[in-house]
Amino acid sequence: MNITIIGLGYVGLVNTLFLASKGHNIFALDINKNKVATLKAGKTTIIEPHFQELLTEYSNNIRFTTNHKDALRNANMIFICVDTPQGNDGSVNTTNFYNCLATIKESITNDVSIIIRSTVPVGTNKLTCDYFLDSPYKVDIISFPEFLSQGKAFEDLTNPMRLVFGVNDQKGVQIAKSLTTLFDIKKIPVMITTPINAELIKYASNSFLAMKISYINNLAQLCDAVGGDIDKVSTGMGLDPRIGSSFLNAGIGYGGSCFPKDTNGLYWIANNNSIKMDLMLSTIEVNNSQIQYFLNKIYRRFRSLNNLNIAILGVSFKGGTEDVRNSQAIPIVKALLEKNANLFIYDPLAVDNFIPLFSRHIHIDYPASIEDTLKNADFVVILNDSNEFKQLTAQFYIDHMKNPIIFDGRNLYRLEDMKNVEYHSIGRPSISKRK
Ligand code: UGA
Repeated sequence: MNITIIGLGYVGLVNTLFLASKGHNIFALDINKNKVATLKAGKTTIIEPHFQELLTEYSNNIRFTTNHKDALRNANMIFICVDTPQGNDGSVNTTNFYNCLATIKESITNDVSIIIRSTVPVGTNKLTCDYFLDSPYKVDIISFPEFLSQGKAFEDLTNPMRLVFGVNDQKGVQIAKSLTTLFDIKKIPVMITTPINAELIKYASNSFLAMKISYINNLAQLCDAVGGDIDKVSTGMGLDPRIGSSFLNAGIGYGGSCFPKDTNGLYWIANNNSIKMDLMLSTIEVNNSQIQYFLNKIYRRFRSLNNLNIAILGVSFKGGTEDVRNSQAIPIVKALLEKNANLFIYDPLAVDNFIPLFSRHIHIDYPASIEDTLKNADFVVILNDSNEFKQLTAQFYIDHMKNPIIFDGRNLYRLEDMKNVEYHSIGRPSISKRK
């Protein structure tokens, strides 16, 4: 089978490597020349555990290219993995997706199956079918949404929780079944449904997880007001399997290239269909409010930040990734700079992506170690849940700071372990060193 993957971001690259590791030969196509050159040279363009080793091991099965004619001529199966970013009005920008369809249409030379892995608005499968009606070839369109989480994307593809396919007819059912074989994934629920359902399942899943996060964050604000402890509350709630304990970690809110885009996308899709989806609006509003809520904790403690030195740990949208897209760190850094603070930022994975956002601002320094980041700081602000930060102890902060004052935007530490430092987190009582 000749498989072509279009779009070499997270989804495309992980799918490419995964299928190559199963022994399939892949044409991997992207319009970004630099990206393709890097991948051709055997270097990964994303940071995922063991990804570089896997790329080295299986690169013989992959042809990275920018030449769409080469990649699509003779293709039997085409995976569309291009990004569908958020438009200015919260809509889903499908320009890349439709450009990709145009490229496919002009380049294919035989019957093909097109597998849609990109997150696309409800109804896109149908529009894609219509688009190929005048093609001289038979084109089957299958929706196959991805559920990969950055930082464990390869693992998620190897051990997925479920496979969901949206198909149009019996032939689609056969293709879905052959995809299950192609991915060599066993013993997991496989759902074959209509394209509309499959498209909705993707938005609904991401938005539900985002809603859980906003719910716990809203409760965290209430905990602060009434003297509760959100960690205990979420642990107690999570003991009920109907609720489940995942995605109930309070903090500065969700970021990244998926949840912000997909919550807005679902709201927009609902709106377009005259359905009021205020739950989504509230999810988005709570998420946005967490940033100011966290900043206010800092502003209440320090009346002025003028010329204070602030250490920042973590600027990617979550630990274990280099991705800074829609990271909560961006507005927080901006706000602290507006208060004339000097920032010392540490995030070895993400720093190269973060630096250009603030074009080498004179009040930002990027020390190479946590120790150097902390040494002159008046206080430290933790913005993501990197394992490196989780492992730090109260004693570490005491040893490396003049005065250990911590604002933890991800509730990384247990309150009982933070007795000898000043510690502020979200939805939990603050700890004062003097107590
Ligand atoms: C998310 C979904 O988890 C994947 O299933 C989905 O396939 C993917 O989007 C996608 O659509 O491509 P991802 O964006 O990699 O994956 O990140 P998550 O691990 O879901 O985290 C999203 C954000 O929520 C992060 O900023 C994280 O710090 C935050 N979060 C997560 C919380 O604030 N609290 C939690 O309890 C969990």
